Amino acid sequence: NKFDFGLVGLGVMGRNLLLNMADHGYSAIAFNRSEEKIAALRAAATEGTVVDGVTDLGEMIARLKTPRKIMLLVPAGAPVDEVIEQVLPHLDSDDIIIDGGNSHFTDTLRRVKYVEGKGFNFIGVGVSGGEQGARTGPSLMPGGSEKAYKSLQPILEAVAAKVHGEPCVDYLGKGGAGHYVKMVHNGIEYGIMQLISESYSILKAAGLSNEELHEVFKKWNDGDLQSFLVEITRDIFLQKDDQTGKHLVDVISDKAGSKGTGKWTSQDAMNLPVAIPTIDAAVAGRTISGYKDERVAAAKVYPRDNADLGLSKEEAIQLVHDALYFGTIISYAQGLSMLYQASRELEMDIPLTRVVSVWRGGCIIRSSLLEVFTAAYNSSPDLPNILLSSQIADLIGQSVGNTRKLLAKAITAGIPVSAHTASLGYFDAYRTAYLPTNLIQAQRDFFGAHTYQRIDIPGTFHTEWNS
Ligand code: 6PG
Repeated sequence: NKFDFGLVGLGVMGRNLLLNMADHGYSAIAFNRSEEKIAALRAAATEGTVVDGVTDLGEMIARLKTPRKIMLLVPAGAPVDEVIEQVLPHLDSDDIIIDGGNSHFTDTLRRVKYVEGKGFNFIGVGVSGGEQGARTGPSLMPGGSEKAYKSLQPILEAVAAKVHGEPCVDYLGKGGAGHYVKMVHNGIEYGIMQLISESYSILKAAGLSNEELHEVFKKWNDGDLQSFLVEITRDIFLQKDDQTGKHLVDVISDKAGSKGTGKWTSQDAMNLPVAIPTIDAAVAGRTISGYKDERVAAAKVYPRDNADLGLSKEEAIQLVHDALYFGTIISYAQGLSMLYQASRELEMDIPLTRVVSVWRGGCIIRSSLLEVFTAAYNSSPDLPNILLSSQIADLIGQSVGNTRKLLAKAITAGIPVSAHTASLGYFDAYRTAYLPTNLIQAQRDFFGAHTYQRIDIPGTFHTEWNS
């Protein structure tokens, strides 16, 4: 009997996704050079499911039903191109290669053209939800050929997370759209994680213990801040270290790692251009965290002279709640406005209503706010920015006042809150009808004859400025 689905790459993500497919009644086979990994796959399979692994790629492909569906879950970059070259000689027309890794969208676009040029299909799918999500229901972001997507649709819908019975997968646009959406998902993920970590530092400055932080995040997760990231943060505060018995979070080094998808989001935003300062601040926040030795030295040169936050615990909890709510909305707003713009610039036809709907479950940025955004886009699918939705305006109106109060206190106390301040700065600029950038235009014309437009007369002007 031939298999429904093939997979190249048996890391934890690959193995879990394969087992998930098998649990939904699809037979699945993997190629991996390591006998050990294949044995681990077989051992982990649920009884009664059909799962196999082979050490020969050609054999795996020969054992697939046509059109063949072959997913690559290998490290992004050159390994994907190498595997494509190995797979191609074994394919027949209409077979589909699916890249489920975190590939850069420009690579995906190139591969779509290359593989389609040879008469086969190539689909880039963003997969989110980590190892657990892959096993029990990830959020899937496919883009590329819609026809090829249709033949994958039943299996992707079966394995994806479900929200109100709806699968968290949908066709998200042409070319590299799937990986583009995943990249921006990760940018938003960076933004929200940075906002949460800054919120944590303010609450610590207000004197909250880890147990109290746990309680606060628990309450928040039961309310309007409900999200996967708030939920795991709640649990992090209780975890003890096996070695020392201390809270694990307190013995973890403050140098943050990154694999680059957040940086890609900022880079492409600059190219478009689209302003996503919260996400930029998050990328920079991780970079600065790496300057450990310099920070230790600078902390001696510039000690904080007024570290008192001037807020009671209760006040701080309320204000931080509102600022985190505000900043989280702004992070999503920036990411979604980037998708809006990129979709047009790069002709991807990304349907934002479907994007927010797919993000409601399975992925790292899932949150109850995505239900609100889905409703907002359902009533106005072409919003260039969700901040223009009246539903969202109400939520911003309820949280921006306390955000200002909190940030004034945090800045006075010298607590680094750059993602929070970037969110507020973005909002204040976005809702300003006449910015002071008229002066920049005057300066540009003054020193470089770069010309300017006027508010009262149409046309382009240059002035011989008096100096
Ligand atoms: C997901 C995650 C996942 C991963 C990234 C980000 O959606 O499941 O975004 O793709 O966590 O690799 O990692 P870095 O923080 O290392 O950049």
